[in-house]
Parts: sequence; structure tokens; C-alpha cells
Amino acid sequence: MKIIRSIQDMQSYTMRLQMQGQSIGFVPTMGALHEGHRSLVRRARDENDIVVVSIFVNPLQFGPKEDYKRYPRRFAQDEALLVKDHVDVLFAPGADAIYPQGYTTVVDVPALTRTLCGPFRRGHFQGVATVVAKLFEIVQPTRAYFGEKDYQQIRVIARMIDDLAMPVRLVACSTVREKDGLACSSRNRYLSRKEREEAIKLYQALYLGRELIDQKIMLNPQKLVRRLMDVLKTIPHGRVDYLSVVDPVTLEPMKRIHRPALLAGAIWIGKTRLIDNVIIP
Ligand code: PAF
Repeated sequence: MKIIRSIQDMQSYTMRLQMQGQSIGFVPTMGALHEGHRSLVRRARDENDIVVVSIFVNPLQFGPKEDYKRYPRRFAQDEALLVKDHVDVLFAPGADAIYPQGYTTVVDVPALTRTLCGPFRRGHFQGVATVVAKLFEIVQPTRAYFGEKDYQQIRVIARMIDDLAMPVRLVACSTVREKDGLACSSRNRYLSRKEREEAIKLYQALYLGRELIDQKIMLNPQKLVRRLMDVLKTIPHGRVDYLSVVDPVTLEPMKRIHRPALLAGAIWIGKTRLIDNVIIP
């Protein structure tokens, strides 16, 4: 596996591949890789000639009080995992390569960031869209792979790709879960053993919601959310940011539940913020 750190080297590498007519599958990450990332890599491996994974902890998508400093950084372990998964290139730029002195351009997708995580993480999706746009410019992928756990992120990126006519195909991949249902996330590493046991309740609440909608037992979003909050309220050091039923395309809250629907939530367990969602097709 080749490790590339400079933007120029990555761009010349990509240009050579494009001239040879090779397809590039791209998995952008912030490292601390887990099974969710590995499933994206495997899919990219299956569908492309060359697989590029980036590791870049993007300062622009963290708020001033968020966990940028303590975000897990495990380059050596990540590198070993990517070698095992037959990745061709690991692109790992430094923060001053991506945001050199004087950097000012941002990409904003306002309509899709007014709900769900948007109001709780001001500037977050602008940071995501900006870095992903820049990474696309550098890597020039044929396909880019994202996990559905970050559903709103996928919608924002899909909109950006359409709006700016970016020549890349977005591939959304199902959330990978641990045995008990907890969605894989780099932030799960923050949880103590006790918190880890509590974390599962977010998925349990969403799962119950899906059952209640599936069986048409509860189609009033307010009532449904109240019912699911009862599950989340039992978490001792838990705090709910939101639990919402939204249209999966516009991400606008539903007045009455119809299908398809997205049931999504964000909770704090101690100092760790977790998100998850289920799609009701
Ligand atoms: O999902 C992530 O890990 C990040 O938001 C991404 C897409 C790599 C952008 O920094």
C-alpha cells in the first residue's frame, strides 16, 4: 500500500490512473477505523480497479466545544488494517495541506442542515461538505463510499454532488452494527463498560419505533417520539439531543408518518455523543 501525504502527489497519481482508464473507489475517513469503515473498503474493492482511503481528522467539522483534540488517532493500527484489506493508497494529508494559511472557501448545503444534527452542531455539515469537496478535487474518484449511520451527511453530500455537477457516484452503504445492535462508530471507543451497556438503548428505541410504524400501531410522530423517549429516559447519564421522524429525502419532520420514513436520533451518554437511525422503506 502506498502512503501519500501531499496533495500534488495524490493528484499526479490520480491523473495517471485516469489516463489508463482505471476506476477509483474512494473511502474518506477520519481514521480510528472499525468494521463499518471496513465494509466500505470491501465494497469499494469489489467495484473499482483502485481503492483510495483518506485519513484526515477535519478540524472544520468540529465545534469549539467538541472533541477535535481527543478524537482517537491510531494511524499505525489503521494502516495495518488497510494493508490487510488490500487498499492501494492511503491518502493522509496534514491540516496545513488541506487548510493552508489564508484558506477561506466553504461549501454550504443549507436546506438539508436545518433539522436533525444541524441545529445541535452548527457549522458541522459545512465543514463536512467543504472537506469532502476538496478531497473529491484531489482524489477525483469514480465512486465514493459513505455509511448510512451518518444519514444526514450522505444527503448533504448527495445534494452537493448534484448541485455542483461533480463527476462522482455516491454509494451509500448499510450501517454495520455490533452483535447487540449498537452502530459501529469511532466514538464508541470513548464509552466506559457501563456506558457501552447503556448505548444500546438508542438502537432499541429506534428498533421499537420501526416496529410500531411497520405494524401501523403508531403513525402520529409526536406520540411515537414520546413513546420512544420513555426508553431513552432510562439511561442514567443520558441526554437526548433529538429523536425525529423525517422524510428521508428532504429531512423535514413529518406531520403524519408515511413511508418511506427515517427515524433518527442523537443522544449523549456522559461525554459521548452518539447518533443512529433506521430507514423505514
Ligand atoms: O464520516 C466521516 O468520517 C467524516 O465526516 C468525513 C466524511 C470523512 C469527512 O471528514
